[in-house]
Amino acid sequence: MALGQVDTQEYVNAHPRAAARDAVAHLPRRRENVVRSASELIGSTPLLELIRTGTGTRLLLKLEQFNPTGSAKVRMAREMVLQAERSGELRPGGHIVEPTSGNTGTGLALMALERGYTFTAVVDGHAAVDKLRAMKAMGAQLVSVDSGTGGGPSTVERRRIAAEIAARTGAYRPDQHNNPHNNAGYRELAHELLADIDTDVDYLIGAVGTGGSLCGTVEELRRLGSRVHALGVEPMGSIIFGGAAGGYWQTGAGSPAGFPVGGNVKYDAIDEDCRVGDIDAFATARVVARRTGILVGGTGGAAIHVALRRLVHVPAGSTVIVLVCDAGEKYLDTVYDDDWLRERGLLDRAAQQRIIRLCRAYDESVRLAAYSVRTGA
Ligand SMILES: Cc1ncc(COP(=O)(O)O)c(C=O)c1O
Repeated sequence: MALGQVDTQEYVNAHPRAAARDAVAHLPRRRENVVRSASELIGSTPLLELIRTGTGTRLLLKLEQFNPTGSAKVRMAREMVLQAERSGELRPGGHIVEPTSGNTGTGLALMALERGYTFTAVVDGHAAVDKLRAMKAMGAQLVSVDSGTGGGPSTVERRRIAAEIAARTGAYRPDQHNNPHNNAGYRELAHELLADIDTDVDYLIGAVGTGGSLCGTVEELRRLGSRVHALGVEPMGSIIFGGAAGGYWQTGAGSPAGFPVGGNVKYDAIDEDCRVGDIDAFATARVVARRTGILVGGTGGAAIHVALRRLVHVPAGSTVIVLVCDAGEKYLDTVYDDDWLRERGLLDRAAQQRIIRLCRAYDESVRLAAYSVRTGA
């Protein structure tokens, strides 16, 4: 080796970290983009264009499964917990108890573990098993109530048990159906929508359970000047909008008979209400999976179903957005399982074919519109 020449290998061996830094020193630098807790990853979820029509109307999916815990509900879990800390209802080392179908529970479990609380989720057999497993994985305690025959949600019973635990232990109960910080947790979502598109949100469609995600987003959109038209979707058999009570398998959205609808369903904020049966909800989710490779949950499927049927009736050039609450990966044993659907009479190839034909008709309308522009026809 010539005098003054550095032996590169020797330098790397002696100073491995410095050598690694030097190796990438020429790359353009931005501020570091590293978070120190999972809750900092909440928000900024993507918009996916599912359909475009020949009139320039777009159907966009706000994919809330890209939040930590894989659901929109972590937004409001964070807001409720932070507010309870500010108000003094939650003190260091405290205990949180809440009835949940799973997504609120995983959100609260995340907030509890990050901030040093214990969390008890009151659940029933209607919940997706993977949501229960996820809560357990994050250290939550689960109290199961019997969902009786038919597997329907035991919303009333879950609520009674949670209230009992709170009264006995002094635990903080967020009460997602009436806590205004549920709806407030979605303000940021409204800002994200307007920041990510160059038009107004003309239609916003979302499944309704507590009402927080749809109503909270709509109210903030309108406060920002949007003229959004809001459609609330519940499972057929849910009583939120006054329909006949019955059983349903969609989880998270809807309220069964006997459940007092909470104050977070802001009827004034919702322009139209719709009911979608399990067959159409699940068939739509499965068609979306085949079309895009993105698996949405059953309530996302229901909201997309409403959107697909609506697109043909909206003014040309509309932007229609569906809030997709969670991912289909939570429902591989149910919505995406042929045997599970068949056993419940929910596997309906004709329903899937109808949705596929509808999507193809929109695709074809784009080709026709392009053709008529080219030929002047
Ligand atoms: C899968 C799923 N979809 C829809 C909803 C309804 O959302 P919200 O309670 O904000 O009305 C929930 C709520 O838990 C849910 O878990």
